[in-house]
Amino acid sequence: VPLEEVALPLYFGWFLLPAVQEKIRCTSMDFLKTLDTLEAFKKHLIDFTGKPDQEVDLEQYYKSTGMLHCTTQFCNYGKVEGSKEYAQNPAVQNAYGSVFELSLTALFVTPRTVGARVDLTEEQLLLWPADAEKEAESVVPAAASLPRGSRAHVTLGCAEGVEPVQTGFDLLQILALQKDGQQGEPLEMELGSLIYYSEGRWMLTLREPISVPACFSSFYA
Ligand code: A2P
Repeated sequence: VPLEEVALPLYFGWFLLPAVQEKIRCTSMDFLKTLDTLEAFKKHLIDFTGKPDQEVDLEQYYKSTGMLHCTTQFCNYGKVEGSKEYAQNPAVQNAYGSVFELSLTALFVTPRTVGARVDLTEEQLLLWPADAEKEAESVVPAAASLPRGSRAHVTLGCAEGVEPVQTGFDLLQILALQKDGQQGEPLEMELGSLIYYSEGRWMLTLREPISVPACFSSFYA
């Protein structure tokens, strides 16, 4: 087997530098704590519990999923079509090992995942797979009509039994609803404005985006 074929990673992406991992985990926990105490959130608790009058502790509800990162190309060690071409792309090879500033512009939760939206710059979009949104079409039909980079996110936690790949689908779903103009009254909070998108989907658009240094690299389990 040629070496380059066995050398493909599980995925490529930007890995938040260790010093900011802790900070973002705290930001995420603070957000969950705040959300949990909001009357507006309590009104829709059934979205999470499936039963009326049941409590939920959001800080325990989501399990952490390891190193915080923003996946670009999921390769599954080369099993994913296009991953070899991605690894050979000069833009990818040139950027490998470099530190970028990622801009986190929103935090969102659903009954499945909690994540941060990443707003990619033109330069960062050069590392974004051409078909990332289209690939999500079977789960989120409107995904392909959203701008490139719409799926970019950092998974902050997943509910029991949920795979992290779900976070990007949840984000695309919220953005599709947003595009359709399906949104209620925003709730103004210290960190930004919070909107409920039905079925347990909430997004807090940050007043001040959070800029985090992240190394473009790859992960081999
Ligand atoms: P995400 O980027 O949303 O966190 P796993 O541990 O399940 O193998 O996943 C490893 C990483 O690759 C996770 O970060 C995960 O999701 C991402 N990922 C898993 N499957 C896919 C996929 N089919 N498409 C894109 N990203 C994926």
